[in-house]
Parts: sequence; C-alpha cells; structure tokens
Amino acid sequence: RPERTLGLIKPDGYPVHKEDIFARIKTAGFEVVCEKEFTFDRKVAETFYQEHKERPFYEELVTWMSSAPISAFVLEKVGAVRAWRDLMGPTNPQKAREEAPDSLRALFGSEAPRNAVHGSDSQQSAQREITLLFPDVSPVPPKPTQ
Ligand code: CMP
Repeated sequence: RPERTLGLIKPDGYPVHKEDIFARIKTAGFEVVCEKEFTFDRKVAETFYQEHKERPFYEELVTWMSSAPISAFVLEKVGAVRAWRDLMGPTNPQKAREEAPDSLRALFGSEAPRNAVHGSDSQQSAQREITLLFPDVSPVPPKPTQ
C-alpha cells in the first residue's frame, strides 16, 4: 500500500542542491504531495527532534536547523519511508560515501549533523512529523474511491 513520509533539505542542501535532489526524488518514482520553504522556529525544531533531546549533538542540531531556510516536503509511494531512507543513505555522510556512494548524503552531505537531508524513520514518525509541519495535509494517502 502507498504510504507517506516527510523529507527535509537541510541548510547545507537548501537551496544549492534542491534541483538535483528533487530530480532524484522524481526518478525514484515518488509523488511529491506538497512542498514548502520555511525557517524552523527554534521551539518547533526542538519538538521535531524531541527524541534526540538527551544526545550530545542535540543543541548543535537544533541551533543549526533553525538557522536558515530549508525545504520540507511530503512524499508518497509504496514503502515510502524505507524508499526515501534508502535514497538518502546512511546518516553519517562519510559512511554513506563508503557504503552507498550514489546516495544523497554521500553526494551532498559533509559531516553529521550536516548531512543534507532528513527522512522520517518509521510510519509513526512520518505521521507525527507531517502533522507538525503540514497540519492541513493528511499524513496517510487518501483511501481509493470505489
Ligand atoms: P536526521 O535524519 O535529521 O536525524 C537526526 C539528526 O541528528 C541526523 O539526521 C543528523 O543531522 C544529526 N546527527 C545524528 N548523529 C549525529 C552525530 N553523531 N553527530 C552530530 N549530528 C548527528
């Protein structure tokens, strides 16, 4: 069944790599349900990354992510969560260059947290993240009409 996931192009990828990234998204067969440019309010970034609150990189991550405009988008496809994570590659861009040299983080990331793109890590996270950033968009695909 089709599902939806949330993607971000982070400040190191936006706007410089936006065109390349969306070209790869289209080639991989995703439907782009919606997209917007915005700058994270610090409080919203803290909520977005709440599961990392205890990690040593949390402060740096939240400060950086709310420092400049980014692109956020909802992608739809069968198995979208997994497919978007596969296209991004491993979190650590150096590891990505070794293990998935054609992935977005291998191509456009530098060093964590600067890894160019974000993707939800589960369907549950996708629903939470889509609802947070796109309150007017359904986090799941509409039911087919019969
Ligand atoms: P993202 O997919 O947005 O989810 C959490 C983010 O935290 C991750 O991408 C990186 O940007 C950042 N991150 C994860 N691990 C580390 C790390 N070890 N050091 C710095 N930043 C990290």
